[in-house]
Amino acid sequence: MDSSVFIGPEALPALAEMLSRPAVTRVFVLADGNTARLCLPLLEKHLPPDYCLIEIPAGEEYKTLESCNTVWCTLTEQRADRHAVLVNLGGGVVTDLGGFAAALYKRGIRFAQVPTTLLAQVDASVGGKTGVDFQGYKNQARRVSGAGRRVY
Ligand SMILES: NC(=O)c1ccc[n+]([C@@H]2O[C@H](COP(=O)([O-])OP(=O)(O)OC[C@H]3O[C@@H](n4cnc5c(N)ncnc54)[C@H](O)[C@@H]3O)[C@@H](O)[C@H]2O)c1
Repeated sequence: MDSSVFIGPEALPALAEMLSRPAVTRVFVLADGNTARLCLPLLEKHLPPDYCLIEIPAGEEYKTLESCNTVWCTLTEQRADRHAVLVNLGGGVVTDLGGFAAALYKRGIRFAQVPTTLLAQVDASVGGKTGVDFQGYKNQARRVSGAGRRVY
């Protein structure tokens, strides 16, 4: 499984190349309200035209299993198979949650981290640590994964 890191102007074309491979059956983008509004327009031209947006509200209080449920419901409704890719566009909340949700769907689908905050670029999206908060405890449900391509 590829876990390359791309930084700079070649990053988005590299992501586009990965997403356009025949082995990728469908592309999903997870964003929060802010990154959907402010960042998705910059990413959109690098995505296949039939990509599916999954939007969650912004904020740590949404880094929950309920938000994972939103992701899993959409993937299921859209019949995402094991060769689908989830692109996580956001800060540490979105990259943690999206990586976690991708790792558990059908025993794991590939995901790409597109970190949009400094913290996510230098820390949260690096190293494969993902998770969600539970019952008020931070990162109570966690998973470490080697999968995922970070695009800065
Ligand atoms: N997995 C790890 O190793 C690791 C390491 C450090 C932190 N984290 C996690 O990271 C999370 C915090 O991440 P964060 O600080 O990025 O917070 P965040 O993801 O909540 O983002 C902060 C705010 O900035 C907004 N935002 C994001 N990108 C933006 C952009 N480009 N322009 C305008 N607004 C933007 C978001 O919508 C949000 O409202 C915590 O949940 C923490 O546990 C994980």
